[in-house]
Amino acid sequence: MAFGIPPEVIEEIKSRCDIVEVIGSYLPLKRSGSSNFKGLCPFHQEKTPSFHVDGARQMFHCFGCGKGGDVVRFVMDKDNLTFVDALHMLAARAGVIIPEYSAAGNPEEARRRGSIRERLLAANELMASFFAENLKRSPNGPVGSYLRSRGLSLEEALHFKIGAAPDGWTAGLEFARSKGFTDEEMVMAGLARKKEGSNRFYDQFRGRLTFAITNEQGRVCGFSARSLEAKPVDGGKYINTPETPVFRKGNLLYGMALARKAIADNNLAVLCEGQMDTIAFHRAGINFAVAPLGTAFTPEQAKVLKRYTSRLLLAFDADGAGMKAVERAAEILLPLSMDVKVIHIPGGKDPDELYSSGGREAVAAVLDEARPLLSVLTSRLSDKFDLNTPVGRGEAAAWVANYLKLVENQVELETYVAEAARMLRVSVEAIYSELADLRKIERRKIIRPETEQIQPVPQKPVRERMVYPAALLSLLELAVNSSDAARQIAEMLSAEELVSADPVTEALNLMINASLNGEPEQGIEEIKNRLTERPSPEISRILVEHADCPDVPRAVSDSVASFRKLKNQEKKQALLVQLSRAVTPGEKMELLKAVAALK
Ligand code: GTP
Ligand code: MN
Repeated sequence: MAFGIPPEVIEEIKSRCDIVEVIGSYLPLKRSGSSNFKGLCPFHQEKTPSFHVDGARQMFHCFGCGKGGDVVRFVMDKDNLTFVDALHMLAARAGVIIPEYSAAGNPEEARRRGSIRERLLAANELMASFFAENLKRSPNGPVGSYLRSRGLSLEEALHFKIGAAPDGWTAGLEFARSKGFTDEEMVMAGLARKKEGSNRFYDQFRGRLTFAITNEQGRVCGFSARSLEAKPVDGGKYINTPETPVFRKGNLLYGMALARKAIADNNLAVLCEGQMDTIAFHRAGINFAVAPLGTAFTPEQAKVLKRYTSRLLLAFDADGAGMKAVERAAEILLPLSMDVKVIHIPGGKDPDELYSSGGREAVAAVLDEARPLLSVLTSRLSDKFDLNTPVGRGEAAAWVANYLKLVENQVELETYVAEAARMLRVSVEAIYSELADLRKIERRKIIRPETEQIQPVPQKPVRERMVYPAALLSLLELAVNSSDAARQIAEMLSAEELVSADPVTEALNLMINASLNGEPEQGIEEIKNRLTERPSPEISRILVEHADCPDVPRAVSDSVASFRKLKNQEKKQALLVQLSRAVTPGEKMELLKAVAALK
């Protein structure tokens, strides 16, 4: 009996959790065959889908990184769960009851059974239904009346998982206790607080309208609670769940569980400012709207969206803060090559006010008139800078170049450079030269400053992946595509330089060997065989993408040269490290000579 769960129960869980459905709740899958599906692998970075889900065999496999297995394995790897925790998670999802057993003989297992994450989600889900029941019980209470004043029916409110937190100090806690949750668990779930210097606990959310926040899978993981008072006495207008193991504000988007299918289907998402705006869009039929949770939009949230869509509409307020938010979003989204447009709502209204006053048509109209992000930024130039002076124009060019440098698509870039040049009354060349300067500076920076996200809860480290030098990869690519290239590489590189320390050099050796034997196909076969043991997306790509090279000898000597230069730099780096540790003058002298010899 595996870990106390009877095998027949494990079988039942597996049979009731369709792998396509489960994986489909984590990432968008596209049908590719009668019972097969494809998507972007959640375990490694990729741009073209190599992650396959086989509905008939109930297995998944990624040809890019080699991960694969059944539905339990997927959940274990994706959510960092143990086998037992994964089974409990899936059982809860499918409504399978795992029979009780004597925990007395196995306290360790008893603790594990209630996996912490699961307990925290369960506590949140319990409170969501408690708040909803409370609202249903008193539809004419303060929350009910407030909702009516904003034109939301009770049914609509419940659909958006809105509820009412009672006005006492411990109503929620008492209910949770009656359902077997400890006060400590409630604190860990961010649903209760402990009174300083005492042993007393009280509810985190009291006398407020509550929005249950769900994760992508639709499970309640926290709350955002709005005060109904003009000047709230306890905290701000909104109080959120603090950061917990299941609630990371910077990773979550309000409305994502409701919107994600529509986002994938439409290949479009609307990003707005808050809960009420999100709800307004959904009511207006724009069911692909989401919002951050009262914080600025983060790179993590962008990555979540990017898994579903490449197109985004920003619906921020038209004020200064809204413009700042657009600029910040641009810095995050442009490097991701997202197609971003900005919605402008006339009259300084927010989407919620627009829907209340103009209904569906008004909302649809502003969506139709959204303008490309870079045009919006460019058109801001005259507000931000004095374009009548050369200095002002120079500053403006530098400012806009900072965004333009993030645009990777050449065609797009040309359009925006032209727009900026027109606006600034300078030549397009002037803008390009500004861009070239910026790129030079960027390259000189050794470490690109990344804005640090606060990550209070430590995550299991993701397995680090090797980054192979471009020169080495292009040598392999040349060798794979031309046996002449392979032979030339063998002539140019010494045995010492070809010592294989990594899979790419190993593959290069195999290719050279096979080409020298007059059987290049054999080399490719051997590399493929090695790949099943040690998968490497870089090598797989080189094997499948046939690359034609107009001037092979030249390409080989260029790649060999940059490969050597790199090796030299590595050697020099190593010598300098040794030098910094050297003690005797003799040692130092030797090392200095070695460094000089490298040049
Ligand atoms: P309404 O005032 O009911 O229309 O709500 P709203 O959601 O439109 O709020 P608003 O436009 O004032 O703010 C946008 C979003 O910022 C909100 O949905 C919240 O997520 C967040 N927010 C606003 N005020 C606060 C606050 O005091 N604290 C926190 N943590 N978040 C806030
Ligand atoms: Mn509002």
